[in-house]
Amino acid sequence: MPATVVVGSQWGDEGKGRVVDLLAADSDLVVRYQGGNNAGHTVWIGDQKFAVHLIPTGVLRGKPCVLGAGMVIDLDVLLEEEGELESRGIPVRGNLRISENAHLILPYHKLIEEQEEKRRGKRAIGTTGRGIGPAYEDKAARRGLRVGDLTDRQTLTDRLHDAVKYKNLLLKKIYGSPSVDPDRLYHDLVTLHDHFGEAICDTSLVVQEALDSGQRVLFEGAHGTLLDIDWGTYPYVTSSNPLSGEVAAGAGISPKLIDHIVGAAKAYTTRVGAGPFPTETEESLAQKMREPGGEFGSTTGRARRIGWFDAMVVRKSVRLNGIDALAITHLDVLDQFDEIPVCVAYRCDGKDVPSFPNDIARLAGCEPIYETLPGWTSDTSKVTSFSDLPDNAQRYVDRIGDLVGAPVTHVLVGRERDQSIVR
Ligand code: GDP
Ligand code: IMO
Ligand code: MG
Repeated sequence: MPATVVVGSQWGDEGKGRVVDLLAADSDLVVRYQGGNNAGHTVWIGDQKFAVHLIPTGVLRGKPCVLGAGMVIDLDVLLEEEGELESRGIPVRGNLRISENAHLILPYHKLIEEQEEKRRGKRAIGTTGRGIGPAYEDKAARRGLRVGDLTDRQTLTDRLHDAVKYKNLLLKKIYGSPSVDPDRLYHDLVTLHDHFGEAICDTSLVVQEALDSGQRVLFEGAHGTLLDIDWGTYPYVTSSNPLSGEVAAGAGISPKLIDHIVGAAKAYTTRVGAGPFPTETEESLAQKMREPGGEFGSTTGRARRIGWFDAMVVRKSVRLNGIDALAITHLDVLDQFDEIPVCVAYRCDGKDVPSFPNDIARLAGCEPIYETLPGWTSDTSKVTSFSDLPDNAQRYVDRIGDLVGAPVTHVLVGRERDQSIVR
């Protein structure tokens, strides 16, 4: 499939990094189209753990990678990530292209986010603290700085001084916190541009040329559908559109060029940060899954909240993203249970709820209805073909596919590269 998208179908951390790593082996170019370093995609290569935040996971397969226009980029973090990967033998420099249209995350974005989270108090979103929301706010308010603004020193000076003047007013008058020095920031940005200058370009042309010449392009989603700013559990969402529909705008290609959409879904559900989570389990059960599932935030290290598979969530994702195929991850984590509940529907005031509500107040009134499936209580982590999975594990996977309306083409049974089943 020349243009394939991998999208998260739950609240993020579905194992997109693993799925991208698997598919990137047969791809020629890997493209991120939204988000920033709030993402954390983990891949283990042997006994070495790699967690990428800005650079597409495909870099771990030595593939050329694009940071698309829909992203918000903290160049300090990019420099650190590049250095860390290069020092561990992963070639990055020559493989990286950065969109001139992507927006910059600057130090004041992080300062403002910290203050805003404090101001919200009990209603805090539980953000990753990476400045994502404030950077997208500036983009929408048309006062953001773009990567391409670094190329022309006069444009940079003008735009930066204008932006910092405004931000310093906010920091001082609203939050009573220290201000930012525009001259120091200018100097830091020029240094970063000296480093990354050659990689900055119109990446939409890079992607277009790859597709025109018949190359296979993989679009790497970040976060998850239920964190989408329009279709997620607003306001407990991120500030971009992780949906596959954003690929066209964020990467700069026609939506008609997308051939295939793979949804990554955990065999259960997790969420990190605040917000509603209908199938969340009690902590004693969550603890049984947290260690085997690696359920600690790849970006912030926070313990993830854990719950049973929720077909209402993934069904919504299948519809909104146009998911053609599902990659079910973390099946091995369920090896330990005699019985496994799966949420098949919601009820509200004694009536069936037709689809996952967009409004969190309505969602709060929903009661999850479970179907209990028999477990398989045996080790799946070494299984390499679908037919060798225990019968009940096969039934579990197929029941999930039936419930959400998409065929399951990949099953992952561990964090290692070879713990993958392609059907
Ligand atoms: P992403 O953000 O969607 O790429 O997911 P993360 O990398 O943030 O989180 C997934 C976590 O689960 C990481 O710690 C992975 O190493 C781990 N992981 C991925 N797939 C599997 C799997 O099939 N089984 C198990 N046990 N762990 C997995
Ligand atoms: P990956 O790509 C899980 C969550 C945060 C918070 C909310 C808003 O690794 O799946 P933000 O910093 O984006 O403004 O925080 O969104 N969040 C994620 N949760 N995985 C992610 O990315 C996430 N990116 C953002 O925890 O609840
Ligand atoms: Mg993650």
